[in-house]
Amino acid sequence: MTLPYHERTHDCGALRADDVGKTVLLVGWVHSYRDHGGLVFIDLRDRGGLTQIQFNPNTDPKAHEVARSLRSEYVIAVRGEVISRGSQVNPKMATGEVEVIGHEIDLLNKADTPPFPIEDEIDTNEDLRLKHRVLDIRRKPVTQALMLRDAITKTIRDYLAENGFVDIETPILNKSTPEGARDYLVPSRIHHGSFYALPQSPQIFKQLLMIAGMDRYYQIARCFRDEDLRADRQPEFTQVDIEMAFVQPENVMHHTEHALAAVAKVALGIDVPLPMPRISYAEAMEKYGRDAPDMRYEMTIKDVTELAGRVDFKVFQDPVAKGGKVRCIVVPDGATMTRKETDGITEELKGIGAGGLPLFKVAEEGGKRVAQTGIAKFMMADEPLFNQILDKIQAKPGDLVMFAADNEENVCKYLGWLRSTVAERRGMIPKDTWKFCWVVDFPCFGWDDEAKAIYPMHHPFTSPKDEDLHLMHLDSKEPPPVEDLLKLRAKAYDVVLNGIELGGGSIRIHRGDVQRKIFQLLGLSDEEAKEKFDFLLDALRFGAPPHGGIALGLDRIVMLMGKFPSIRDVIAFPKNARAMCPMSLAPGKVADSQLQELGLRIAAAKG
Ligand code: AMO
Repeated sequence: MTLPYHERTHDCGALRADDVGKTVLLVGWVHSYRDHGGLVFIDLRDRGGLTQIQFNPNTDPKAHEVARSLRSEYVIAVRGEVISRGSQVNPKMATGEVEVIGHEIDLLNKADTPPFPIEDEIDTNEDLRLKHRVLDIRRKPVTQALMLRDAITKTIRDYLAENGFVDIETPILNKSTPEGARDYLVPSRIHHGSFYALPQSPQIFKQLLMIAGMDRYYQIARCFRDEDLRADRQPEFTQVDIEMAFVQPENVMHHTEHALAAVAKVALGIDVPLPMPRISYAEAMEKYGRDAPDMRYEMTIKDVTELAGRVDFKVFQDPVAKGGKVRCIVVPDGATMTRKETDGITEELKGIGAGGLPLFKVAEEGGKRVAQTGIAKFMMADEPLFNQILDKIQAKPGDLVMFAADNEENVCKYLGWLRSTVAERRGMIPKDTWKFCWVVDFPCFGWDDEAKAIYPMHHPFTSPKDEDLHLMHLDSKEPPPVEDLLKLRAKAYDVVLNGIELGGGSIRIHRGDVQRKIFQLLGLSDEEAKEKFDFLLDALRFGAPPHGGIALGLDRIVMLMGKFPSIRDVIAFPKNARAMCPMSLAPGKVADSQLQELGLRIAAAKG
């Protein structure tokens, strides 16, 4: 018997009560199999879902005979009639109101027993799942992740197309684009000793397209960065890359937030209030300890430098004397935290560099607020001062106060970590809450205390704010004073969702003199700048319009909105945490002849 499988009538998730009485042709994989002493039931699965099919030995003996031989993951085609399940409705299945009586069946292919069950929840380790990613993708959460990714990508494309953005591809074989990571290099066969770099982003090309007059570009662009991997990082990932000419930050932010709101509507069914809140980098660091603030919960960081400096306690006084900061978080009802919990947190905090964790619990005794445990004795030594501090940080009996006292950078780092760690462990983060924000007014440069040098906070094409341009001392041949450079703010903006950076962008430098000065400040000699970026500097000479843009991490958007724990869950064929593909085993060795052709010799294999 041969059924015309190419003429399937429905996918396996489509049938509803309305379809009762229809003759249908379904194809797919045997998801589950039950032989009820006579009747054989199978759940047939394809991308769309599951449909129950019943084979009856009395009415369809031939089909029943074949059905009895079926096993998991066999590939079949079935023709049959849709019937109602009557009172046996299965509310867990989208097709649960109906089933199909299988009259004809075709076994299209057999399958070995899969190494793990094709089910929603499995505890198989990730490398085994990635090794057999073909089977893993058949599991509903993975299928749905890829479908969600498609829906999100389409929504973004539709929004951008409707708003005059043109999709343009840019090269993969490139010279290096400096986004701060290591490059993936491709040796040239024709030019021995020369290498292409895979793009860390299409940054320079999109700027060239603006100079070329292609105003309003976008690309769903693959980017490559050889950096340490985390749950939200992959060596190759996808950006929604956007660039516009004749714009200010607000214009780029407007389109970005409208595109994201459209995505949130499709992916989460929510209306994101627009415009999204804006917060300056300085405020984000002070209140949240991070440049990607998580606004789903309060417990913001409070500054008590001035008051704490007066407490007779060296741990506070020493950093304050050196110009550092004392800040804290107030954990609501945190007095219930056990010594074991706070000791554990202290040890972890030491692991990221802190000397310790000064803390006390607020209690009430005889109508007065008192401090208990930890640094209580220092705090209680001057009661009026203690009360002033409590008033300032609005701490009430039952709360726990945790401090960091150090230079500003470390204080932000420790309290940013404490805020999110404590919130997570104490269940303070509300589920299904979506808090977007923009972080603006980034500094152009940070200060590296070890290297005693400035470092750029963004790629080198980011424009300083017009009102800060004087701090660059463009007319002087001397390097500008470091204090001035550290005050210089960038026309840069990041969009953040629930404490994770979704995207970042900026208005670009469109003046050759400013661009050359920035290269100089970053330590590139004129020759080096010319060698690396001559094509950009050259283009800037020919009427470059003011322009700017942004790139959104598509994988991160899908991960967050799909509520997946890892970026790997939303990529069809991801690399593992060691930048390897457990399925294809890439990266792999190559033949000596290939190396020879490329003029390469392997000096020594690593590990
Ligand atoms: P940036 O380097 O901030 O900016 O990258 C933009 C966004 O891309 C995502 N992203 C990543 N996602 C997964 N894995 C990675 N390794 C990874 N690295 C970055 C993040 C990030 O916010 N050219 C500039 C943009 C511009 O200025 O227009 C750029 O690439 O979500």
